[in-house]
Formats: sequence, structure tokens, C-alpha cells
Amino acid sequence: MLKISKRLQSIVNLIPESEETVWDICCDHGHIGKSLINRIHQHKTSELKEVIFLDVVPGIMNKINESFKDTDIPIKISILTSDARTQNYKNNSINCFIVAGIGGDLCIEIVNQIFNFLSDHDYVIISVHKNTVKTRQHLKKMELRLYKEILVKENSKYYEMLLIGKRGDSEICEIGEELWEKFEQDHSDYLTEQISFYEKKAEYRTEFKNILQKYKKIKHKNLKS
Ligand SMILES: C[S@@+](CC[C@H](N)C(=O)[O-])C[C@H]1O[C@@H](n2cnc3c(N)ncnc32)[C@H](O)[C@@H]1O
Repeated sequence: MLKISKRLQSIVNLIPESEETVWDICCDHGHIGKSLINRIHQHKTSELKEVIFLDVVPGIMNKINESFKDTDIPIKISILTSDARTQNYKNNSINCFIVAGIGGDLCIEIVNQIFNFLSDHDYVIISVHKNTVKTRQHLKKMELRLYKEILVKENSKYYEMLLIGKRGDSEICEIGEELWEKFEQDHSDYLTEQISFYEKKAEYRTEFKNILQKYKKIKHKNLKS
């Protein structure tokens, strides 16, 4: 059984079971897709028909290819060496696109491309390593909507994870909304980190004052309750 980190497992847990095709984009080691394949054995009801691994580095994709040799997998596996910013994502399936473990600017370029192919019933999972607010602002501008968002802490680092799509239940908020509904120690610590980060930024750039105020409002609300 493949053992993966808490961050990666949290991403896998966000993938809806109704998905037929899952795209592990910028897959690197391919742990997300591989762990998903393991999940099929546990959840016999899964609709999953194909996992697509995609990364721009040929050596990475060769290794993934090798790792599947002589293994019996009950679904289709595709291995694409490709630039995710220009990939043709067209297919007739119900897709979940996973874009995780990269910076916000690259994520924005990739999501712009996915959007050209995105159907109403597709999902996208986003978890960037930096520029979360900028990424959220962009997703909101694209009129993508939120199904779910969570905060995950691993090795003293915090990761926001969003499950989004064209038909999501609510608007995407630039600092998160549902993210703060469950307010535990991790949420409090992450909020303190974000406030101190934006306090420094707002000293020089007034456009960050608004973000800072929004974070502070979350803090005050949770101090009261
Ligand atoms: C840090 S890994 C992320 C792995 C995994 N998604 C995760 O969340 O841990 C980033 C990967 O993105 C790949 N990458 C960077 N730019 C890319 C692009 N334009 N198209 C496809 N893959 C890209 C890199 O080769 C690298 O393997």
C-alpha cells in the first residue's frame, strides 16, 4: 500500500467519487494519481475509469511509466509528457483536474487553459504553495465557484485546498470563507501568519490593506465567539 503525506492524502480525499477521469497535473512522483488507484480497491463503487499523469519533465514520466510495468490495474492509465499550460484537455468524460504543489502564477496559467475545456460537471482541485490570495482573486474573476475548501497543516506549513467548478455552491472568496468556519488552533495560527504577512505588505502597497482588513475581521469574529 502506497503511503503518502497528509497533504497529498487530503487532496485525494477531496476528489469526488463520481469522477470518471482524474488528471494528476504537474504530477512529479505521481503520488496523487497512484494513491487514487489504490482507493479503487477499497471503494468498489468508484466510477473511476482513467487516471492521467501529466508533467513536463520526460524523466519523471519515464519513471512513472516504469513503475506501472507488470502491474495489474483495473482502469486506464495515461502518461503525458506535456506542458500543462498548452495541453488539450478535451474529452467526453466527467473530469477532476488536480493542480497542486506549484506557485500561484503557474497555477493561474494552467487553470486558464483547463477553463477552455471545462464542462459544467467537471471539478478542479487547487492547492498552491504561494500567492493563494492572487490565485483566489483570479479564480473568482473567471466566475468559477466553490464546492469545498479546507486548511491542512503539514511540517509547520499550511495549505489551502479548494474544490471548485462552474456549478459550485458559493462564490470564491479571496481570503476564504468556509475555510474559517471550523476555527481550531491551526486556523488561528495560520490566520496570525497571514495577518503578519499582509501587515508588512500593506506598509508599502495600499492595495493589500483591504486584504489585511478582511483577515483582521475573521480574527475579531473568532475572538468574540
Ligand atoms: C513540486 S511538484 C508538485 C507535485 C505534486 N503535484 C504535489 O502536489 O506534490 C511540481 C511539478 O510541476 C512540474 N511542472 C512545472 N511546470 C510545469 C508545466 N508547465 N507543465 C507540466 N508540469 C510542470 C514539475 O516538473 C514538477 O514535477
